[in-house]
Amino acid sequence: MSFFKLLLVALFSSFVTGAVLPEARLQERQSCNSATDRACWSSGYSIATDSETSWPNTGVTVKYTLDISQKTLAPDGTSKTMFVVNGQYPGPTITANWGDFLEITVTNSMTTNGTSMHWHGIVQKNTNNMDGVNGVTECPIPPGGSKTYLFQATEHGTSWYHSHYSFQYGDGVVGPIVINGPASANYDVDLGPMPISDIFYNQMYAEYVLSLTGGPPVAPNAVINGTMRNPANGLNYRLRLINTAVDSGWYVSLDSHIFTVIAADFVPVVPFNTTWLFIAIGQRYDVIITASATASNYWFRAENGCGNNGNQANIRSIFHYDTVAAGNPSSTSATLPTFSCTDQTGIVPYVAKSVPAISLFDSSDNLNIAAGQGGTWTINTQAIDIAWGSPTLLAVEQGATTFAAATNTYELPDANVWVYWVVQNGGGVSHPIHLHGHDFSLLGSGSGTFTNATASVLNFATPVRRDVSELPGGGWIVIAFQTDNPGAWLHPTLMRRTVHCHIVWHVGAGLALQFLERASEIPTTMDLSSLPSRCDAWDAYYSTTPDTQLDSGL
Ligand SMILES: *[C@@H]1O[C@H](CO)[C@@H](O)[C@H](O)[C@H]1NC(C)=O
Ligand SMILES: *[C@@H]1O[C@H](CO)[C@@H](O)[C@H](O)[C@H]1NC(C)=O
Ligand SMILES: *[C@@H]1O[C@H](CO)[C@@H](O)[C@H](O)[C@H]1NC(C)=O
Ligand SMILES: *[C@@H]1O[C@H](CO)[C@@H](O)[C@H](O)[C@H]1NC(C)=O
Repeated sequence: MSFFKLLLVALFSSFVTGAVLPEARLQERQSCNSATDRACWSSGYSIATDSETSWPNTGVTVKYTLDISQKTLAPDGTSKTMFVVNGQYPGPTITANWGDFLEITVTNSMTTNGTSMHWHGIVQKNTNNMDGVNGVTECPIPPGGSKTYLFQATEHGTSWYHSHYSFQYGDGVVGPIVINGPASANYDVDLGPMPISDIFYNQMYAEYVLSLTGGPPVAPNAVINGTMRNPANGLNYRLRLINTAVDSGWYVSLDSHIFTVIAADFVPVVPFNTTWLFIAIGQRYDVIITASATASNYWFRAENGCGNNGNQANIRSIFHYDTVAAGNPSSTSATLPTFSCTDQTGIVPYVAKSVPAISLFDSSDNLNIAAGQGGTWTINTQAIDIAWGSPTLLAVEQGATTFAAATNTYELPDANVWVYWVVQNGGGVSHPIHLHGHDFSLLGSGSGTFTNATASVLNFATPVRRDVSELPGGGWIVIAFQTDNPGAWLHPTLMRRTVHCHIVWHVGAGLALQFLERASEIPTTMDLSSLPSRCDAWDAYYSTTPDTQLDSGL
């Protein structure tokens, strides 16, 4: 036991990069939660708490500064010009405790691009103005400018932050988020986040321009936790897997080990075991690995199960037991899963919650996704094309009641009602569908066309809740959520390349809509007073730069 603790301390000391120790924070605001009682957290809060509706108020504000700049790095050994956070790739991990406030100042030290920072999966309860989506909730931060985001971590688990300025996150403006909280199974050591991403050697704007004449680009490589080499020590670990790619859905496994899955996105789940796990772009899985195999070195594999990559079969890192010498595993090929490019099944939320059942779906509930004119992607025949300088919240602040068709705005005026959406895929390519401001209940998913008759297969009793679901090629998903959070919430597909020529990344090509939820309550719920001057600062920059918005801007 003493050996074990010693190792634990040694491991943690190597994780600390910032000024404040994550472990010190943990001790401040949590009264239990040791290796043998991870379900416990603090007085009144545990893994049995419905974190969608209750969370601790710790009174603690955790502060970070994220500076975005251009830098040449070589994540996989090949130099490339990147946009990075605090000079590193991936950006620093934002760590807080469940119920803390996060105060994060983003400064733009780039010279050629604006930026806005989105905190993926954070529901931003009553703080839609902190969601960081340029053209929807704010104007971009111009070069030389900054914005301080302030919001509460009402859910716990694993996520990531990324720029929402066109394709910019593909240039490196990404980093993990860890919100410490209770867990649905015990583990000894938290190994922290493991983001898995494809990488391009050109900058994303250059890739986009090339793609207009040269067809869809194929990422030449991918990186696991920012590199192609990352050994970790072996015992009994929690690992926080995050798909931060622009084009790839990963099937991951660790040779000779089982993953015990304990959370999907920000939602704790009833633990289940699997050898392969499909992670759509934007999804997260927290897994426990029991290091009970023969002490050795093992491949961690990320197989590109949907999308193309120039290094398809070799996206790996090494897990190493520290009782043996570090080195390459004896090279064995794995038995691969079927690459269906659909969500992982077998997921049951730890706190199961039912959704009122309906059997008839009106056509106004349908969101039909299709390829549109001129290389666009559309939802109900409309491609989104936002204007960076005219965000929806500014329009709401100025009293607008109608919105241009190109903003693809769906108004949800009624408070606390359930809304149901059939997302029907008219094309053969799957799409990772993400919702801001809510966890949605995923009532079902299938192939072909959804009809009222199909409604009988939906799970209203114990649906999976999460914030990203992979919409099957030629298939459908049905989601539901409650209108409990006023704001303009983006409902995009995350970037993913299609096989159709000249169409590059889907959200850039229009595949998104906005739910404008309880618009009349927005001005009284949050402080929008700095929006006009922030937009003036953006306009002043944008009117003088030759760089223009090439795509939907999202
Ligand atoms: C990821 O990389 C960081 C920085 O090098 C390192 O501290 C951390 O241990 C790595 N995580 C894993 C899971 O290997
Ligand atoms: C963003 O920066 C890239 C790289 O410097 C540049 O090519 C592009 O024109 C810029 N685009 C916008 C819209 O700011
Ligand atoms: C998962 O596998 C581990 C290791 O084999 C085992 O101890 C555990 O009981 C399994 N858990 C579930 C939920 O099947
Ligand atoms: C379901 O039935 C309702 C009521 O008859 C009808 O209005 C609607 O169009 C049907 N929806 C679908 C998807 O067929």
